[in-house]
Amino acid sequence: MCGIVAYVGPKDAAPILLEGLQRLEYRGYDSAGVVVSNKGLKLRKVKGRVADLAKVVPARFKGGLGIGHTRWATHGVPSDENAHPHLSADERIAVVHNGIIENAGELRAKLEADGVTFLSETDTEVLAHLIARAADENDSLEEAVRKTLKSVVGTYGIAVIDAERPGEVVVARNGSPIVVGIGEKEMFAASDVAALVRYTRQVVHLEDGELAVLKADGFHTFASDARETAKEPLTVDWDAGHYDTGGYEHYLLKEISEQPETMTRTMSGRLDERFHVAHLGGLNMDARETRSFRRVKIIGCGSAYYSGQIGAQLIEELARIPADAEPASEFRYRNPVVDPDTLYVAISQSGETYDTLAAVQELKRKGGRVIGIVNAVGSAIAREVDGGIYLHAGPEVSVASTKAFTSTSVAFALLALHLGRVRDLSPADGRRVVEGLRRLPGQIEEILAQGDKIAELAKKYADHPSMMFVGRVRGYPVAREGAQKLKEISYVHAEAYPASELKHGPLALIGPDMPTVAIVPDDELLDKNLTTLGEIRARGGRVLMVGHREPEAKLADDVIVIPKNEIELDPILLTIPLQLLAYYAAVALGRDVDKPRNLAKSVTVE
Ligand code: G6P
Repeated sequence: MCGIVAYVGPKDAAPILLEGLQRLEYRGYDSAGVVVSNKGLKLRKVKGRVADLAKVVPARFKGGLGIGHTRWATHGVPSDENAHPHLSADERIAVVHNGIIENAGELRAKLEADGVTFLSETDTEVLAHLIARAADENDSLEEAVRKTLKSVVGTYGIAVIDAERPGEVVVARNGSPIVVGIGEKEMFAASDVAALVRYTRQVVHLEDGELAVLKADGFHTFASDARETAKEPLTVDWDAGHYDTGGYEHYLLKEISEQPETMTRTMSGRLDERFHVAHLGGLNMDARETRSFRRVKIIGCGSAYYSGQIGAQLIEELARIPADAEPASEFRYRNPVVDPDTLYVAISQSGETYDTLAAVQELKRKGGRVIGIVNAVGSAIAREVDGGIYLHAGPEVSVASTKAFTSTSVAFALLALHLGRVRDLSPADGRRVVEGLRRLPGQIEEILAQGDKIAELAKKYADHPSMMFVGRVRGYPVAREGAQKLKEISYVHAEAYPASELKHGPLALIGPDMPTVAIVPDDELLDKNLTTLGEIRARGGRVLMVGHREPEAKLADDVIVIPKNEIELDPILLTIPLQLLAYYAAVALGRDVDKPRNLAKSVTVE
């Protein structure tokens, strides 16, 4: 979502804030701003990218205290006025905010009745005015912020500075992440460690309801009742290099290309060749408990949900436990029946997606047993769950998920193996899966080597207004993720359907203008899938097939042939050509590949 950066220390804040904002831009990117305190608050904010902001921040912007923001609009259109930071009328207080203040309308009406003039349409501006009023009545900025937040309903991560207290920043969290970065005689805060790793790898994550006061020589954290809390700093594994494009034209291509290594890291130290099992110590579960679950329910949003569908299939096939996936955003609102015999699995790359976090909290409130499959160590979901599997895929910067998707699918294969081997999955089948997993990275290399061919195909198909993606059973989540990637980054309309359902409706859409990408693995459903291709071609539809061999009859216009693994693991490999197809289609259409319009990397609002 939006990004926050704050700095207090001996250096000039402005370049540090701009650099940090650039690192956060993938979270939200329609406007940006900074404010620096130096004998009064100096503010610059613009509609546009951080690069546009950098152009209007003058070199004379000196001062060792400041806050910055990059925005993804919720209240009010992207504009200079609606960009953060927001100032109080007397220009004493500056605030940046992620999240949504639900009672902003009511608070604003009261302030307006009191004669306050608002300069923006945002919900955030009420905070600036309210904190300024409270600051007049209280001795500390901390107390003024605490008092203001008591009157606020909604979610927030905020950073606040006061022109009259040039040595401190106050940050607070409720539903939107805030991480404090500990430096040498300097302190940082941000909504994501990405903005901090260039300066420090010692961080502290705030919990919901916590507030922190940062001064150059240290920080204090407080619970909502003003009691001081004790926090243990965490060392971040990722460094600034992980956030570079590494010579690739886009983060997305870098992240697609990294998959042999990222997936190896997900498996590392977890595969046991002796008993053909997976070691997942982070689950915090003994064998008896692992055997006790009668169902598995998986929740996540966007691509995380689709990887959950792959996961459900793996668990049903390998462990023979009924499993299904559901969007966390739906699950949390339908008053779900929480069953003590079900293992709930929450998936999130960022660990901060609000809908997924809220679903986890709802489950825990009702006594559900929840584990997480999460990439970002120390993130809100990782802290909330009872145990889990970290992906170790490294930071994913491009908005569209690729390496986290495949690493999540691998983590599910490990979980399925683990659940299966304490039940009826035989050692021979366990060995088959372990060996299959080991083969995946090399096979991905082979698919990546077909990049040029896939780029040509992408050019050929990209100018169609619409594309259909079909797959059966294991291939269906692959088709859904393929369609999702294409629509997210190329803006080509893409629809995914189970191949078996095509004849029950969407076949009416098929014709020369609507080509089909068909997922056709060499499995027990091959003949059924080939029949579907025949039906599409009989209606004048063009077919781009992704599978393990060319069909004997001329059933496809183009074929991408990929290496074969075990049937249960094939979906992981079948995903890769579709990532490349979407990437090259987006490039061919001149799209902003890493920052597609209207989207944000982690959606920390409802
Ligand atoms: C957003 C992103 C998607 C992502 C989803 C879940 O909608 O645009 O690409 O799949 O959030 O993100 P998470 O961090 O929870 O995996």
